[in-house]
Amino acid sequence: MSTPLLRRFSFLERITHWVVGVTFVVLLLSGLAFAYPSLFWLTTFLGGGAAARVLHPQIGALFGVGIVVMFVLWIRDMFLDARDREWLGAIRHYVAHDSEKVPPAGKYNAGQKLFFWVQSLLGIVFVASGLVLWFPEYFSAGLLNTARLLHYAATLGGGLFLIVHVYLGTVAYPGTARGMIDGKVTPAWARLHHPRWSGDRVDH
Ligand code: HEM
Repeated sequence: MSTPLLRRFSFLERITHWVVGVTFVVLLLSGLAFAYPSLFWLTTFLGGGAAARVLHPQIGALFGVGIVVMFVLWIRDMFLDARDREWLGAIRHYVAHDSEKVPPAGKYNAGQKLFFWVQSLLGIVFVASGLVLWFPEYFSAGLLNTARLLHYAATLGGGLFLIVHVYLGTVAYPGTARGMIDGKVTPAWARLHHPRWSGDRVDH
């Protein structure tokens, strides 16, 4: 007899998330290669320095489209409510894996919701400043400098958040990544991490 599972993410949600995830990592690595001469070898993966210069903004455009689709798909579930504020108040128990003391989360916990808003905001900063840097001939030197600064700051923030996000979704909470791979999670995982969420049952 097969154990019933719960549908966590649709095919469209997963494809969109992975387009965003993969493009973001490629952008991060190629961006670091442009910023630090000692990391220039990273451009090899995109066919060398000249190719990377051309590809970086084009991949950035794909990332931008992905972020917009992800935003539209998920915004409905991402507004914080009073229970999310309780969850934030008990975040130390979540960090300590003391799940009995963590107020029950819905489909997303407050940390995930905040991550969604932060990454969406950073997405706007990346794309807006990236467009300015892509077409420098249309902008003043002052605006170009501001765009460069914002692009770097967003990289730092987005990169650090990404490390935490990947750690939480893989190492820290086993069973989570599966929801983003084949779209399904076990009922035990859902009860432990998202007790107020009841996903649709699916077969194996
Ligand atoms: C590249 C490595 C990445 C991995 C391994 C990863 C993993 C995951 C996993 C497993 C989930 C599902 C969490 C759940 O079911 O509760 C998720 C959700 C999500 N991911 Fe990613 N992700 C990655 C990259 C990204 C990037 C680059 C972004 C945005 C710029 C992003 C944004 C999100 C958002 C907004 C959610 C929903 C809220 C949340 O779970 O935090 N992810 N990710």
